[in-house]
Amino acid sequence: MQNLSHWERSYSVGNWMLDNQHRNILILCQQTLDRIADELSFNSVGKELLVVTTEHFAAEEKVLEMTGYAGFAKHREEHRRCLAALEKQFADAHAGLITTKSLSEYLPRWCIGHIMESDRQFTPFIQRLH
Ligand SMILES: [Fe+2]
Ligand SMILES: [Fe+2]
Repeated sequence: MQNLSHWERSYSVGNWMLDNQHRNILILCQQTLDRIADELSFNSVGKELLVVTTEHFAAEEKVLEMTGYAGFAKHREEHRRCLAALEKQFADAHAGLITTKSLSEYLPRWCIGHIMESDRQFTPFIQRLH
Protein backbone atom coordinates (compact mmCIF):
# COMPACT_ATOMS: atom_id res chain seq x y z
CA MET A 1 0.00 0.00 0.00
CA GLN A 2 1.05 3.55 -0.75
CA ASN A 3 2.77 5.44 2.08
CA LEU A 4 0.59 8.47 2.70
CA SER A 5 3.45 10.41 4.34
CA HIS A 6 5.18 10.64 0.98
CA TRP A 7 4.34 14.07 -0.43
CA GLU A 8 4.23 14.56 -4.19
CA ARG A 9 4.49 17.96 -5.88
CA SER A 10 1.37 17.09 -7.83
CA TYR A 11 -0.60 17.20 -4.55
CA SER A 12 -0.12 20.96 -4.34
CA VAL A 13 -3.27 23.10 -4.49
CA GLY A 14 -1.21 26.23 -5.05
CA ASN A 15 -1.48 27.63 -1.53
CA TRP A 16 1.41 27.23 0.89
CA MET A 17 -0.71 27.09 4.05
CA LEU A 18 -3.21 24.58 2.64
CA ASP A 19 -0.42 22.42 1.22
CA ASN A 20 1.26 22.26 4.62
CA GLN A 21 -2.01 21.34 6.30
CA HIS A 22 -2.67 18.63 3.69
CA ARG A 23 0.83 17.28 4.20
CA ASN A 24 0.21 17.14 7.94
CA ILE A 25 -3.14 15.36 7.49
CA LEU A 26 -1.53 12.76 5.22
CA ILE A 27 1.20 12.13 7.82
CA LEU A 28 -1.41 11.79 10.58
CA CYS A 29 -3.45 9.42 8.41
CA GLN A 30 -0.38 7.26 7.94
CA GLN A 31 0.40 7.37 11.67
CA THR A 32 -3.20 6.37 12.43
CA LEU A 33 -2.84 3.44 10.04
CA ASP A 34 0.50 2.45 11.58
CA ARG A 35 -1.07 2.36 15.06
CA ILE A 36 -4.27 0.61 14.14
CA ALA A 37 -3.44 -2.51 16.17
CA ASP A 38 -2.59 -0.57 19.34
CA GLU A 39 -5.90 0.80 20.62
CA LEU A 40 -4.50 3.41 23.00
CA SER A 41 -2.04 4.87 20.55
CA PHE A 42 -4.55 4.63 17.71
CA ASN A 43 -7.19 6.56 19.70
CA SER A 44 -4.80 9.37 20.49
CA VAL A 45 -3.48 9.83 16.94
CA GLY A 46 -7.01 9.37 15.56
CA LYS A 47 -8.26 12.19 17.81
CA GLU A 48 -5.41 14.40 16.63
CA LEU A 49 -6.34 13.64 13.03
CA LEU A 50 -9.92 14.76 13.71
CA VAL A 51 -8.78 17.98 15.42
CA VAL A 52 -6.25 18.85 12.71
CA THR A 53 -8.79 18.09 9.97
CA THR A 54 -11.43 20.27 11.64
CA GLU A 55 -8.94 23.15 11.84
CA HIS A 56 -7.85 22.60 8.26
CA PHE A 57 -11.41 22.61 6.92
CA ALA A 58 -12.12 25.90 8.72
CA ALA A 59 -8.93 27.48 7.31
CA GLU A 60 -9.63 26.21 3.81
CA GLU A 61 -13.21 27.48 3.94
CA LYS A 62 -11.92 30.93 4.96
CA VAL A 63 -9.58 30.99 1.94
CA LEU A 64 -12.31 29.82 -0.44
CA GLU A 65 -14.84 32.29 0.92
CA MET A 66 -12.39 35.22 0.76
CA THR A 67 -11.47 34.43 -2.82
CA GLY A 68 -15.10 34.15 -3.93
CA TYR A 69 -14.84 30.53 -5.10
CA ALA A 70 -18.13 29.63 -6.79
CA GLY A 71 -18.18 26.10 -5.37
CA PHE A 72 -17.68 27.33 -1.79
CA ALA A 73 -21.04 26.25 -0.30
CA LYS A 74 -20.84 22.83 -1.93
CA HIS A 75 -17.28 22.34 -0.75
CA ARG A 76 -18.13 23.40 2.79
CA GLU A 77 -20.97 20.86 2.79
CA GLU A 78 -18.57 18.18 1.64
CA HIS A 79 -16.25 19.04 4.55
CA ARG A 80 -19.13 18.44 6.97
CA ARG A 81 -19.89 15.05 5.40
CA CYS A 82 -16.23 14.11 5.25
CA LEU A 83 -15.63 14.85 8.93
CA ALA A 84 -18.84 13.10 10.02
CA ALA A 85 -17.84 10.03 7.98
CA LEU A 86 -14.43 9.83 9.64
CA GLU A 87 -15.93 10.28 13.12
CA LYS A 88 -18.37 7.47 12.37
CA GLN A 89 -15.62 5.14 11.16
CA PHE A 90 -13.63 5.73 14.38
CA ALA A 91 -16.74 5.26 16.54
CA ASP A 92 -17.68 2.07 14.66
CA ALA A 93 -14.14 0.72 14.99
CA HIS A 94 -14.16 1.53 18.71
CA ALA A 95 -17.52 -0.24 19.15
CA GLY A 96 -16.26 -3.27 17.21
CA LEU A 97 -18.81 -2.73 14.44
CA ILE A 98 -16.14 -2.69 11.74
CA THR A 99 -12.84 -4.50 11.53
CA THR A 100 -9.46 -2.80 11.66
CA LYS A 101 -8.94 -4.16 8.14
CA SER A 102 -11.94 -2.26 6.86
CA LEU A 103 -10.80 0.89 8.67
CA SER A 104 -7.32 0.53 7.20
CA GLU A 105 -8.86 0.32 3.73
CA TYR A 106 -11.13 3.28 4.39
CA LEU A 107 -8.55 5.77 5.74
CA PRO A 108 -6.38 6.13 2.60
CA ARG A 109 -9.53 6.47 0.48
CA TRP A 110 -10.82 9.12 2.88
CA CYS A 111 -7.78 11.37 2.81
CA ILE A 112 -6.86 10.86 -0.83
CA GLY A 113 -10.51 11.23 -1.80
CA HIS A 114 -10.99 14.63 -0.30
CA ILE A 115 -7.55 16.21 -0.44
CA MET A 116 -6.48 14.89 -3.81
CA GLU A 117 -9.78 14.78 -5.63
CA SER A 118 -12.28 17.33 -4.26
CA ASP A 119 -9.67 19.96 -3.40
CA ARG A 120 -8.21 19.64 -6.88
CA GLN A 121 -11.37 21.28 -8.20
CA PHE A 122 -10.47 24.63 -6.64
CA THR A 123 -6.75 24.40 -7.43
CA PRO A 124 -6.95 26.14 -10.85
CA PHE A 125 -9.07 28.85 -9.23
CA ILE A 126 -6.59 29.48 -6.40
CA GLN A 127 -3.63 29.37 -8.78
CA ARG A 128 -5.12 32.07 -10.99
CA LEU A 129 -5.07 34.47 -8.02
CA HIS A 130 -1.25 34.55 -7.82
FE1 LIG B 1 -8.23 20.47 2.01
FE1 LIG C 1 -11.45 20.74 1.09
